[in-house]
Amino acid sequence: MSIPSRFISFEGGEAVGKSTQIARLAHRLTHLGHHVLVTREPGGTPLGESIRHLLKHAPEGRGMTSEAELLLFLASRAELVRKVIIPALDEGAWVLSDRFLDSTTVYQGAGRRLPVEIVERINAFSVGPHLPGLTLVLDLEPEIARQRLQERPKPTGDFDRMEAEPTEFYARVREGYYAVAKAHPLRVKILSGAGSVEETADLIWQQVAKVFEL
Ligand code: TMP
Repeated sequence: MSIPSRFISFEGGEAVGKSTQIARLAHRLTHLGHHVLVTREPGGTPLGESIRHLLKHAPEGRGMTSEAELLLFLASRAELVRKVIIPALDEGAWVLSDRFLDSTTVYQGAGRRLPVEIVERINAFSVGPHLPGLTLVLDLEPEIARQRLQERPKPTGDFDRMEAEPTEFYARVREGYYAVAKAHPLRVKILSGAGSVEETADLIWQQVAKVFEL
């Protein structure tokens, strides 16, 4: 079987430890002599970062419709794929993305309850054929995630628009990730995010080493 694209997306609910784990994996790959690009969604381009602000913090984003929210996430992704991810992969770099298309299937489909077939069709339009070679979902009980979120220092003083969603929303998000993993068992792996940073990093490395034959 051929080795998949060196494009890894990290997924999960809030406060599951994605950023910490991405930084650790980037460090480990860099140490092995690889070029690594780390990016995030929404964001990762100047337009994407403005969209991120609209989606998370801007007053004019409050109360936006689920449909507008969906299209904003996809606009950010369309830019990121074409302007950042494809060029980096073409240059031989690894790309580690904090979230990618599965976040939309899960948050806007399962979470907001928009029709999943429509979400998946426009998701496919926004990314084209450029799927991650591996997607790692860090799984955590929504209650534990909420507790971690409350303990986090908050520079802006408050939860952002998405974090403010109730635990039931995050329970649907969790189920949504299970459904995505079931639908794409080769690409999407669910790993426990409940252990220590070290333990989770070990689980991640085992998957990466296996899939990319490192
Ligand atoms: P984060 O970067 O702190 O994870 O914040 C991004 C938020 O946006 C998070 O709540 C997940 C949410 N999100 C969606 O609802 N749909 C998407 O397609 C993406 C990429 C993120």
